Amino acid sequence: MADLYAVIGNPISHSKSPLIHTAFAQQLRQSIRYDRIEAPLDGFVLSLSEFYKKGGLGANVTVPFKQDAFNLAHFRSTRATVARAANTLWFSGTGANVAIHADNTDGIGLVRDLRDNNGVQLSGKRILVLGAGGAARGVMGALWDEHPAELAISNRTPSNADALVNDIGVAIGADCIKVIAPAGSAEHRFDVVINATSASLNGELPAMPQDCFATHAVAYDMMYGKTLSPFLMHAAAFDAKTIDGIGMLVEQAAEAFFIWRGARPDTTSVIAAMKPLISLA
Ligand code: ATR
Repeated sequence: MADLYAVIGNPISHSKSPLIHTAFAQQLRQSIRYDRIEAPLDGFVLSLSEFYKKGGLGANVTVPFKQDAFNLAHFRSTRATVARAANTLWFSGTGANVAIHADNTDGIGLVRDLRDNNGVQLSGKRILVLGAGGAARGVMGALWDEHPAELAISNRTPSNADALVNDIGVAIGADCIKVIAPAGSAEHRFDVVINATSASLNGELPAMPQDCFATHAVAYDMMYGKTLSPFLMHAAAFDAKTIDGIGMLVEQAAEAFFIWRGARPDTTSVIAAMKPLISLA
């Protein structure tokens, strides 16, 4: 029987994770089954427990359950602890002695897509992250690990950015992340600007400081869709190189697959295969 994995979220019908993990398994000649599970908004724990009882070995967790997943786990990676959220779970032990392990692969997925797939150097660069929700929280630690010259955050509601910096500062150092006002002029320009807001989902341009794109800047939108997001269109008007989040989606999945299966899939071919599917969606 194939080894059982799943992605748990709400909503979940749009999730590309089954396609991606099935492609990884085919590539590596492994036998897995990967399901989508829509948990009720107040039913994450029960859904995970039913999945485990059915023989589930590991689960990806998406919106809105990443914090629930982190809180439930008995063992947490440093990456999950910095983010206080988990997108990858697996089990050890059996019966009453089962233990839940949690990791967060979103940040390393973003970094690998920028650095390895797109050749964007992060060390010594000035990086600005827009947004202060779960998506931003998940990637700050991995970005900091790349030794940027500066890591800054700007959010429509500045108090949410302050709260994120307070939380993350406990793990990576209180002075590491600078908060920038969402309007008005940025004090200086940034080499890499990452949209971690959910504005693109509504076809909106996120609030951001004026003149934030340096010459030859890179603009990265963690969302993806059929067409360039308003953020990427705006960035292109400033001659920034634009990258959407398809590569991050595949890279975070590849890291989860590696955690579960101990084998690392080739992501280049899977990213290439995903692009036309997304443009048809
Ligand atoms: P996620 O898990 O995707 O990060 P979230 O936790 O709801 O979702 O956070 C959404 C983020 O996108 C927040 O930083 C939000 O800004 P506020 O803190 O001001 O709410 C940001 N956001 C959503 N829509 C936006 C918009 N139209 N312009 C700017 N920021 C937006």
